[in-house]
Amino acid sequence: MADTRTATLTFDGKTIELPILSPTVGPDVIDIRKLYAQGDVFTYDPGFTSTAACESAITYIDGDKGELLYRGYPIEQLAEHSHYLEVCYLLLNGELPTADELADFENRVTRHTMLHEQVHNFFRGFRRDSHPMATMVGVVGAMSAFYHDSLDITDPWQREVASMRLIAKLPTIAAMAYKYSVGQPFVYPRNDLDYASNFLHMCFSVPAEQYKVEPALAKAMDLIFTLHADHEQNASTSTVRLAGSSGANPFACIAAGIACLWGPAHGGANQACLEMLREIGSVDRIPEFVARAKDKNDPFRLMGFGHRVYKNFDPRAKVMKESADEVLELLGVHNNPLLQVAKELEKIALEDPYFVEKKLYPNVDFYSGIILEAMGFPTSMFTPIFALSRTVGWISQWKEMIGDPTGRIGRPRQLYAGATAREYTDVTKR
Ligand code: CMC
Repeated sequence: MADTRTATLTFDGKTIELPILSPTVGPDVIDIRKLYAQGDVFTYDPGFTSTAACESAITYIDGDKGELLYRGYPIEQLAEHSHYLEVCYLLLNGELPTADELADFENRVTRHTMLHEQVHNFFRGFRRDSHPMATMVGVVGAMSAFYHDSLDITDPWQREVASMRLIAKLPTIAAMAYKYSVGQPFVYPRNDLDYASNFLHMCFSVPAEQYKVEPALAKAMDLIFTLHADHEQNASTSTVRLAGSSGANPFACIAAGIACLWGPAHGGANQACLEMLREIGSVDRIPEFVARAKDKNDPFRLMGFGHRVYKNFDPRAKVMKESADEVLELLGVHNNPLLQVAKELEKIALEDPYFVEKKLYPNVDFYSGIILEAMGFPTSMFTPIFALSRTVGWISQWKEMIGDPTGRIGRPRQLYAGATAREYTDVTKR
């Protein structure tokens, strides 16, 4: 999307013309690819606050408006009218499927839900008290040792099979990580169930008792998957792209994404948020925690608040909040003390000048944890659920990158602040 306009950079007596690229929507982008060759300088942008690292046609966020579009469709419309597997198709292919295309896609995903039986042994190598995210990083990485026929990234068919396998098997892996951590037998997937119901079945079914999936809970689960499906070039997606830029296989790349997602500033925030609500414990202790969050000398932050891109209400949080109200009503847990703390905290933070001025709104993780807790998931499963939902976004972005003929290995530079060249001294002389 080259433009005729250029930006002029002048320094040290040099003038460099930099092309301006215009997106379909959003801020213009100054193309600095030739800057080092022409000007012998780098740009400095730790945290990538002003850097577009790729061209993408998948997801768009307007952080000031609080807008999120998947392939142009507002997240609110998809949340209301669509469902997760249709959204997966949309993210992967760019268009909503016809009825036949959707049926074929769902069929293909469903046929890949089982894991190679030997992977069960792999699970058993972990300690029972391993965090399910630790298990997932290991098992997803190990998929490259089990599915040799979908590792060749230059073959579009193998890329397609790997994509199907990842979307289909991640719920199985997440559920197995959970079952292993609680000492229950693994539950095989059921292909007569939809994607979300099957996940609930694999998590909560036990051989001794029939588990009937409550349709309203399956709908709420599907909504959580949909709201987390993609989110532009966030830390884990950028990790997947960077890993993939070297030609690494898709299973290794997604394992890298899972590892990055685990951090409390990213996907780990949903677990950290619920743990924080527990630590606060009662409404009367909220002011103490709000004061800590505002104190520059205290590293404590209100988990589930703030976002790098959204400087307005996270649109996913709005949808999630409505769903949380419905689920809690359905399960009859409106008197849950945790929920009371959450509601009061939300109210206080939305009115407090510190949070208002810094535009720190509740994010998606603030509400998702409350729903997942009410559904019966332990906090350690919150981030694995985020990971399985985001897998389709990671794959869509990875495929887009592989298909980009201008793609090169990601290789950032640095502002070096270390010692200049010096002579080695023998250990006896130091
Ligand atoms: N509580 C208290 N103060 C905060 C918070 C918070 N949750 N978030 C940001 N601030 C303050 C921060 O101290 C800074 O203040 P100042 O300008 O005085 O130095 C200002 O707000 C800007 O924050 P920042 O750290 O420069 O913003 P960032 O874009 O680097 O970080 C964030 C974004 C999401 C990591 C951060 O808001 C945070 O740590 N939030 C809590 C963790 C969380 O909920 N993460 C989930 C994000 S949504 C899901 C996902 O995409 O993974």
